[in-house]
Amino acid sequence: MIKPSDGNGKIGIFDSGLGGLVIARAIFKLMPQYDFVYLGDTKNLPYGNRPKKEVYNFTRKAVEYLFKQDCRLVVLACNTASALALRRIQREFLPKYYPDRRVLGVVIPTLEQADKKHSSEVIGVLATEATVDSHIYKKELVKIDPRAKIFEVAAPKLVTLIEQNSLQKAENSLKSYLKPLLSKNIEALILGCTHYPLLSSEIKKLAGNNVRVVSQTNFIPDKLKDYLSRHPEIRTKLSRRGKREFLITSYNKNFNAVAKRLFGKKLYFEEIVVSYET
Ligand code: DGL
Repeated sequence: MIKPSDGNGKIGIFDSGLGGLVIARAIFKLMPQYDFVYLGDTKNLPYGNRPKKEVYNFTRKAVEYLFKQDCRLVVLACNTASALALRRIQREFLPKYYPDRRVLGVVIPTLEQADKKHSSEVIGVLATEATVDSHIYKKELVKIDPRAKIFEVAAPKLVTLIEQNSLQKAENSLKSYLKPLLSKNIEALILGCTHYPLLSSEIKKLAGNNVRVVSQTNFIPDKLKDYLSRHPEIRTKLSRRGKREFLITSYNKNFNAVAKRLFGKKLYFEEIVVSYET
């Protein structure tokens, strides 16, 4: 039964660029009734080779912008933002300025999915340089399953190539990124960046049948649905008109083709200005 709209709140989905559209698409498919605002910080992409302080500032400002668009909940689809900014946003920013809003990340749900059986697995992570340097996946996995082993490898070239629509070149560099992980006999491989699911068939081919490829598009939507079912204080404040908005901080004519590939159809992007003062 379709329930009438409860509140006027939206769900925000944030990424450093357009890669998060892959997750957004999967979320929309599972929860078509809610109103969503996607924000891609295309002006400041890539986050993956920026210092922690910058990633925090950009992410916090983007979250604040989304809150001002009536988002009650923001999902940081970006692994780099989840790794470098989420904790501080949850501990400092929200309690002080927005105590009744929530920001969720993707790292812990991804580890729960990768290490589902708690079977002291050997897990590989492919991510941006900043995510790998933070060692967030390693630090959080120890808390979930102290016996599991994790190996992290940075793939600095992939994001830019994907955002430029140079998929062939990205596929070529994949082999060298995967080699050190495959030599550790990993059993699961986390695609620790919003953009990598786009290469998942190529990655699966290179990784072989013995490696379970953990792609966030496959379970983050379910985790979000589950979160909303357990948090009526947020859920009841959300509107259900099935609206979607796509905001970016800098427009480039390539984006139409990239969005079509990532999202499956042409999108109307609104270019917005985020103020970084204060
Ligand atoms: N979206 C980022 C992530 O998931 C990757 C792109 C970037 O470097 O900004 O880690």
